[in-house]
Amino acid sequence: SAADKGGWSSFMAKEVSEEPDAVANTLRGRVRDGHVVIPELDGMDELFTNVSRIIVIACGTAAYAGLVGKYALEQWTRIPVDVELAHEFRYRDPVLDPGTLVVSISQSGETMDTLMAVKYARERGAKTLSICNTQGATIPRESDAIVYTHAGPEVAVASTKAFVAQITALYLLGLHIARVRGWARSGTEESMQVLELEAIPGKIARILEREQERIEQLAHWMADTRSVLFLGRHVGYPIALEGALKLKELAYIHAEGFAAGELKHGPIALIEPGQPVFVIVPSPRASADMHKKVVSSIQEIRARGARVIAIAEEGDVAVLPFADEVLRIPLAEPLFEPLLAVVPLHIFAMALATAKGLDVDQPRNLAKSVTVE
Ligand code: G6P
Repeated sequence: SAADKGGWSSFMAKEVSEEPDAVANTLRGRVRDGHVVIPELDGMDELFTNVSRIIVIACGTAAYAGLVGKYALEQWTRIPVDVELAHEFRYRDPVLDPGTLVVSISQSGETMDTLMAVKYARERGAKTLSICNTQGATIPRESDAIVYTHAGPEVAVASTKAFVAQITALYLLGLHIARVRGWARSGTEESMQVLELEAIPGKIARILEREQERIEQLAHWMADTRSVLFLGRHVGYPIALEGALKLKELAYIHAEGFAAGELKHGPIALIEPGQPVFVIVPSPRASADMHKKVVSSIQEIRARGARVIAIAEEGDVAVLPFADEVLRIPLAEPLFEPLLAVVPLHIFAMALATAKGLDVDQPRNLAKSVTVE
């Protein structure tokens, strides 16, 4: 009912507006004196000290959260991380042993593909940890350890606030594992990251305040678009995939996400005059070189007539001469930028679907929780 939507036009509009809270609530009670403290993992250090490999398994949007997590987990823990779609996992005889930690990610905790992969991993001796948004769901019950996301109930079929909560939980897990394994003995690096993380909810709120109307206007103009491409690099790459998935799910538009560096190896053939391309521009503070490469990708597609919509941090003027539109995100620790860059893409997909008169909460053919394999 309208009351449940709290005055919003859809559950999705409400849930996107709750993205700052989803992050803040997932952090709540898990940070103390600049350290990450995850009470659910108390006394479980052994789970992390003996790990030589992490495999993240999930489906859909949750798998993209996993891809973001890979960058942070490897950087902080130095443990190799693979991310796999749950349904691709178990029929290929994966290498699993007691030194493997399988981290599953699921909003519902009931996705059958993910559940079966967790059970399979466990039977073959791997350790399992579940990141889940639903208390007492099946996947956490089948796992050795649980880290709950606290996004609150998500009603719209396509996942939004749960996604930012999942990424947040992965950051917390990464910092936790790193500390257990003796990283940053002084603790200063950890507390710097923690401070940066705690600043994220306010920055998401700022994007919602400052950019929402402009993005809605843009979506309105683009209501007849038949195809949209998304480019990203490093942690922006999974966000490009998520931006494309949301547009398919909500607006039934053909959309594809690419790693920006892959452009010249194929996708650039798709660029023709008028083709809209979203580009998630990495912070020059992450790597001046990487930033420059993405800007030159923008130049290349622009030269072929693409209509470029850049998502770039405040103050990044290098993109201005080549972008048709620039959507701004506040400055943040580069590893945490996915939590910001995804917000305009969620708003865009929702607004475009709305402009087409579609039901954003209940897209055709989709189910919130897929409990069949
Ligand atoms: C369905 C939903 C997606 C979701 C995926 C995984 O396909 O439509 O929005 O990302 O399931 O769901 P889970 O509950 O496991 O996160």
